[in-house]
Amino acid sequence: MRTALTELVGCRHPIVQTGMGYVAGARLAAATSAAGGLGIIAAATMSVGQMTEAIRSVKERTDAPFGVNIRADADDAAERAEVMIREGVRVASFALAPQRELIARLKDAGVVTMPSVGARRHAEKVAAWGADAMIVQGGEGGGHTGPLATTLLLPQVVDAVDVPVVAAGGFFDGRGLVAALAYGACGIAMGTRFLLTKDSPVPDAVKQVYLAAAETLVTTNVDGVPHRVLRTPFVDSLQRTRLLRAVLNGARFKKISGLSWAALLREGRRMKHGRELTWAQVLQAANTPMLLKAAMVDGRADLGVMASGQVVGVIGDLPTCAELIERVMAEAETTLRGLTPR
Ligand SMILES: Cc1cc2nc3c(=O)[nH]c(=O)nc-3n(C[C@H](O)[C@H](O)[C@H](O)COP(=O)(O)O)c2cc1C
Repeated sequence: MRTALTELVGCRHPIVQTGMGYVAGARLAAATSAAGGLGIIAAATMSVGQMTEAIRSVKERTDAPFGVNIRADADDAAERAEVMIREGVRVASFALAPQRELIARLKDAGVVTMPSVGARRHAEKVAAWGADAMIVQGGEGGGHTGPLATTLLLPQVVDAVDVPVVAAGGFFDGRGLVAALAYGACGIAMGTRFLLTKDSPVPDAVKQVYLAAAETLVTTNVDGVPHRVLRTPFVDSLQRTRLLRAVLNGARFKKISGLSWAALLREGRRMKHGRELTWAQVLQAANTPMLLKAAMVDGRADLGVMASGQVVGVIGDLPTCAELIERVMAEAETTLRGLTPR
C-alpha cells in the first residue's frame, strides 16, 4: 500500500511505531522497521551516548528507515540533532512541542521532521515552521494527550494543513488504518499496540497488567499536563497528591534513581518551563521519568506509572512486530475489498 507516508519516508507499510520512553529502544524500533513499518527510538529518556548507541544498534539490525524521538526543550537538543544528521536517521519526531530552529536544521540536512500534535492550532504552527509531516494524536492516545477524540481532531487537522498527516490515538487494526486513510491521513501511528508485542522490552509481568487492564484515566498529577495512564491504586493515590506526598514520592524515587535532589529539581524546573505548575507538580514532574522507568524497566507496576491509550481495553495478545504489521495490512486489504460496491 503506497501512501504519502511510505513515499516520504521509504517504509513499505503506512504504519508507525511511536517513540515511547523506556519502551521504544533499539530492539522494538528495529523489529518494526525490519517488518516494513517505521520504528521510532524514544530518546527523550536516554542520554546522548545511549541514543547514539541505540541508533547504531538499529542500523546493525536493519537497513530500513527509522526515526528518533527527542525533547526539543532539552539542553542538548541541538547536539542530539547533529547526532541524528551524522548517523543518517531518516525521521525526527518530537516529544512535547518542537522548536522552529531545530526543525529547520534537521530539514536542511535532509531529515524528515515529523512532530506530534494534539490540537489543530499546534498542527498549523508546526506546518508553518516547515515540518514535513506530522503525527496527530487524539485524546484516546497514551501518554501526554489532548481533550479531543481522534475522530474529531484528525479531519480538522487534515483540512487545516497541506503536509502528510499520520493518525494516532486508539489504533490497533486494519479497519482503523482504512478509516484513517478515509479521513485523509497517510497512515497510522500506534504506541500502546506496539508496547504489547513480543519485541517490546517491557517486563512480562507488566505486560500482563496491561493485558488485564480495561480502564485508563487522564491525570495532571503526574507532571502537571494531561497524561493518559492505566488506572491503578498507585495512580489513584497520585490523584490525591499534595506537596507532602510529592516530597515523599521524590524521596522514594530519588533513592531508586540515584539522582540528587538538585538533579530532580532541575528536571522539574525544565518540565515547569512556560507552564503554571504548583511546587507539588514541579516535584512530580521531576519524577515523571522515574515513575515510567519504575514500571517499564524495573517491572514495578505497583510503584510506577504505566502510560497507556484507551485501546488497551481491546488488546488481548502479544504478537511480534512482524506478525502485527502483517495482520494489520491483511485486515486493511480485506476491509478495502469489502468497501467495493458489489
Ligand atoms: C508507555 C508510553 C510512553 C510514551 N512515551 C512517549 C515519549 O517518550 N515521547 C512521545 O512523543 N510520546 C510518547 N508517548 C505517546 C506515544 O508516542 C503515542 O503518541 C501514543 O501512544 C499513541 O496512542 P495509542 O497508545 O492509542 O496508540 C508514550 C505513550 C506510551 C503508551
